[in-house]
Amino acid sequence: MKKIILFADTGIDDAIALIYALKHPHLDLMAVVSGFGNTDRDRSARNAAYLLKLAGRTDIPVITGSKRPLSGETPIFFPEIHGAEGLGPISPPASPERFSTRTNFSTLFRLLKQHPGEITIVNVGRCTSLAIAWYLGPDVMKLAKNTYLMGGAFLEPGNVTEVAEANFHGDPIAADFVCQNAPNLTIIPLNATRNALLTPALVDFIDSRAVSPLQQIIKPILDFYYEAYQELEPGIEGTPQHDLSAVMAALEIPGLFSYMRKKVKVEDKDGYATGLSIADFRPGVPPCDGAGCARIATEMDAGVFTTNVLDILTRG
Ligand code: RIB
Ligand code: CA
Repeated sequence: MKKIILFADTGIDDAIALIYALKHPHLDLMAVVSGFGNTDRDRSARNAAYLLKLAGRTDIPVITGSKRPLSGETPIFFPEIHGAEGLGPISPPASPERFSTRTNFSTLFRLLKQHPGEITIVNVGRCTSLAIAWYLGPDVMKLAKNTYLMGGAFLEPGNVTEVAEANFHGDPIAADFVCQNAPNLTIIPLNATRNALLTPALVDFIDSRAVSPLQQIIKPILDFYYEAYQELEPGIEGTPQHDLSAVMAALEIPGLFSYMRKKVKVEDKDGYATGLSIADFRPGVPPCDGAGCARIATEMDAGVFTTNVLDILTRG
């Protein structure tokens, strides 16, 4: 079993990544750290807790992450893409829990100390909470086995500005910090996740096999996401599963991704290029090594993706 801790900003594609992690027989989800991003921090944490409850896995802790980026700016949320509550048409019932009281990084650190060298961190939201964890406990964070990051766009337009992808743009200071400091780092950027499409036909197939409340939520939230994407990218054949791609990358599924090793810089200055992810793709530049060097996904095999996702999400 591969132990993972998911750092998310629990909106729609985060939810699919979370559902996949819960259903995968070789993944042991140890905790979810849920911060601001697609929606505000408290909704994001509540959504993660709601999905865990649907799955009957209230034993998995939800740790509330950051409410805003390291710059201190007020974040912008995306209700038009992820819905007013962050889960498309779903309004999770009001929870008796106050998620604002759960900012409990000691739970995160305890898990890493209990399983040194065994836990994979998968960050599929803004990098703020992960960067804060590194600021608070760098020696403990070094106990993680490796880190997978959904973020950036290399040799490809951004999705929130012409040049920047939403997770890196939402906190470029934190994104750059993680890229420079997290050892054994793999980045799954937009240029790879744009091929990770779930078409309406595939979603209908998954729904036709849905037997649990967790599986039955997939179609309504992805139908909402598809409508939103039709506005964003008219004619797109399905919804890009950015966050699911990063969780799948952590499984090292043969043939799913192609990678190149590059030193990565995220533009963290305020201005036109904020959040731009930069690496040297000129021919003849040798692969990098050591600190600040990441494995960047350059391509994804859509066939391998689809076969695997259908297998996992339709399991009874
Ligand atoms: O750019 C895609 C990323 O931004 C995904 O993680 C999505 O959930 C949003 O956070
Ligand atoms: Ca996300």
